Amino acid sequence: MSNLRKKLSARDIAARKGGSKLTMIASYDYPISRLVELAGIEIILVGDSLGMTVLGYDSPVPVTMDDVVYHCRAVVRGAPNTHIVADMPFLSYHLSDAQALANAGRLLQEGGADSVKLEGGTGMIADRIRVLVNAGIPVMGHVGMTPQTGGTAGFGTQGADVESALAVLADAKAVADAGAFSMVVEAIPAELAAVVTEHVPVPTIGIGAGPHCDGQTVVSTDLLGIESPLFLKFAKRYAELGVEIQAAFSRYVEETLSGIFPGQELSPSMNPEVLTELRSRIQ
Ligand code: KIV
Repeated sequence: MSNLRKKLSARDIAARKGGSKLTMIASYDYPISRLVELAGIEIILVGDSLGMTVLGYDSPVPVTMDDVVYHCRAVVRGAPNTHIVADMPFLSYHLSDAQALANAGRLLQEGGADSVKLEGGTGMIADRIRVLVNAGIPVMGHVGMTPQTGGTAGFGTQGADVESALAVLADAKAVADAGAFSMVVEAIPAELAAVVTEHVPVPTIGIGAGPHCDGQTVVSTDLLGIESPLFLKFAKRYAELGVEIQAAFSRYVEETLSGIFPGQELSPSMNPEVLTELRSRIQ
């Protein structure tokens, strides 16, 4: 797959409703994002999961605007032809419309993102989405399990009974009505994800939500098998890079201690005449 493909716009993504499946991945740095683009994944989320996957916190709550801007810039350099969604961190859009606008604007202008994502549904969050969209900022919603408020709403599967399933559906409809171009649906039963997907006019992108969504998203460290405080229980490991990386580091230690590394082929050498002259001058 060439990395010269055309970057998807928010409108292109919205137009994929019911069409071929969208692929998204949370990625946080230059080297992995470069490989993501080469592999043909169409959307990168600079998720606030970075708090756990690369910064070692035990939740997304401590993640700041500066953190997301910093990682976003690296991701954009690695994947210039991929649609980049930047997560709005905890409390970066709750205080006022002006705060939400200023912070979303930073993610686009300083971070280089193509769109922003924020969590929640009916009420204040839908109003905020409308304000951002009216200002020309493409917004991806996030309903179901919302990690930023997991401390109060719960981290487990949402929508397992009729009342909470109706609440997830109401959130999804509110997010779509407010003008979001797509939405993440996280940790809800597959059957409910199918109902939500049927009832909203924009693509649903599922994580822990079964196969009926318009697309899927994953977290790169989970997919690659690199342990972090996050590791989602519904993640599929496509590689065991954590084991391989640790083995490589151990081999480096062993070979340095035993003198195998660096071998002659990796050591710069000096012209023997220069060396002789050097030694004679030192003596
Ligand atoms: O922060 C993140 O990576 C996310 C995904 C889990 C959807 O929000």
